Amino acid sequence: MQKFLIRGPTKGVKGFINVSGAKNSCLPLMAASILFKKNVILKNVPFVKDVFTMKNLLVSLGSKVKIDEKRKMMEIKNTKQHKLVVPYKLVSTMRAGVLTMGSLLGRYQRKSIFVAKGGGCSLGIRDINYHLAGFESLNAFNSLSNGYVKISSKSGLIGNIYKFPKVTVTGTENIIMASVLARGIHVVKNISIEPEVIDLINFLNNSGAKIKFIGKRSLKIIGIREFTNGTHKIIGDRIEAFSYLCVAVITKGEILVKNINPKFLDSEIKALKKLGCLIKLNKNSIYLKTKKKLRPINIKTSPFPGFATDNMPIILAVLSIVIGKSQIEENIFSNRFMAVPELLRMGANIKVKKNKATIIGQKSLKSADCISSDLRTTFSIILGALSANGETEISRIYHGLRGYYNLKNKLKKLGVRIKSTV
Ligand code: EPU
Repeated sequence: MQKFLIRGPTKGVKGFINVSGAKNSCLPLMAASILFKKNVILKNVPFVKDVFTMKNLLVSLGSKVKIDEKRKMMEIKNTKQHKLVVPYKLVSTMRAGVLTMGSLLGRYQRKSIFVAKGGGCSLGIRDINYHLAGFESLNAFNSLSNGYVKISSKSGLIGNIYKFPKVTVTGTENIIMASVLARGIHVVKNISIEPEVIDLINFLNNSGAKIKFIGKRSLKIIGIREFTNGTHKIIGDRIEAFSYLCVAVITKGEILVKNINPKFLDSEIKALKKLGCLIKLNKNSIYLKTKKKLRPINIKTSPFPGFATDNMPIILAVLSIVIGKSQIEENIFSNRFMAVPELLRMGANIKVKKNKATIIGQKSLKSADCISSDLRTTFSIILGALSANGETEISRIYHGLRGYYNLKNKLKKLGVRIKSTV
């Protein structure tokens, strides 16, 4: 299993990085391709591990997927009738596999679709009860057998009204995908407005769908009969962008992060400014310079446009070396402080009580052997390693490779002394 060895401390990085396409846009866009009888072309594809897992899932269902990693492109053909069983093997390694439920249902409304119910997840309980309730509002009913959710709509999907009890990203994406080919008009309320959801809506609308905002968090979806060809350029990855901004912060350096719309990181940029960073925004890039003295801050995660839960483990590592007392409140997942035990082993002073973490910043962290347990925790540990004196070994790095494209080389380019071993 691949490991990273990082020799710290890294001081004052100076450089730029090109942000890759957003993984969490690419996955629903790939799932949405199932709705298309004509070809779908995706551009700015981040060829991270999860994207390959989704590709394997689509291929196992009968899609033809051609990739061109050099040109960051993917072409998906869905001319053949799909298999309607999504196996546990693929859903268990990547929770986003559940996104094929909405698109398979949208296309094969009257057939029975079987999607393996995802198991537990390192972030806590991740139910799909709101996805299923949303499908029910469209006249599709489900039952559980042998660990599979069986779902179908005997008389086809019919527009109605559904209000999500809680904002859910993939839940919103699933209901949008199921609604676009339904009969009549479906109104969906209390939706997620994360940039990745908007990217999906833009892609579908540009290919013939009729999805309209009728309020800040409400949509009116008028069913259409068929999609035209779909071509779409994926937006930049806001979590990757923030992660590299924090490389500059923790090393007291400066960075230009390119290919990212700064509006996707409004709350995060406010937090970095409060921390004491100098930030200049352009239409599609963010420049950050770190001041010598940083100030502690308080953060609360919430759905977009709030501070993203995915960026929380990243800022957590940064706050570990900001002298003073900072606080973080996690409001999305029940178990999102997995980076804490690893940062503690590096000498951080963090106390977690329920969904709140209190961080007493230290001057620097100490190197230690660490184990990564999920995608964003990996980057949190990497940030800790940059501030630590000595060599940090990070195992189970595959978690990081699920969502960060070209991770080692991007860090190397910024001057990080990093090696990988098998
Ligand atoms: N929830 C329910 N029932 C549901 C759906 C959600 O109780 O039917 C709860 C969840 O348990 C959680 C909250 O609602 O407490 C929000 O979860 P959400 O459904 O929004 O998360 P998700 O759609 O499963 C996506 C991203 C995650 C990201 C979250 C939150 C993708 C593929 N995944 O997950 O990304 O953390 O939204 O923004 O888009 C990552 O990239 O590292 C990652 C975990």
